[in-house]
Amino acid sequence: MTTPPFRQLFYASRCAPGVDVDRIVQQSRHNNAVDGVTGLLWYQDGLFLQVIEGPESSVAATFARIATDPRHEELTILSDRPVEAREFGYWSMERAQKGSSDTDALLARLERRLANAPDAVRQAFTDAANR
Ligand SMILES: Cc1cc2nc3c(=O)[nH]c(=O)nc-3n(C[C@H](O)[C@H](O)[C@H](O)COP(=O)(O)O)c2cc1C
Repeated sequence: MTTPPFRQLFYASRCAPGVDVDRIVQQSRHNNAVDGVTGLLWYQDGLFLQVIEGPESSVAATFARIATDPRHEELTILSDRPVEAREFGYWSMERAQKGSSDTDALLARLERRLANAPDAVRQAFTDAANR
């Protein structure tokens, strides 16, 4: 048996008060590009959902930093599994505002990006988007 080359981790957390989400996105884009980590970060109404995936050691190191970051709390791992191939071959951020006029466009983009994601992951994002 060979070990699948990638680890995919999916979690939810609550944003701490007064946090600059754009700053997190900038920092993450930069680090993840360097580290070979891909995924998706969703932020809405104070709730984060994030998938990170990549080589086991990169995901472990990235998640160790994320898990101790005081900018969020109540972190809950929703799934943590080995994958044969990346299901999020890019890293991006979707920031949704309830009732905004571009919700349909956002959902369409999300759907494309979640096309290959496991059901549990797709469901969690879709529920968040429809809240
Ligand atoms: C919700 C959330 C998601 C984050 N996602 C990432 C990420 O995908 N990659 C990353 O390197 N840091 C991420 N961070 C930031 C890390 O916790 C940490 O601050 C950062 O990696 C430190 O990098 P630096 O030493 O280059 O400043 C995230 C933080 C939060 C609160």
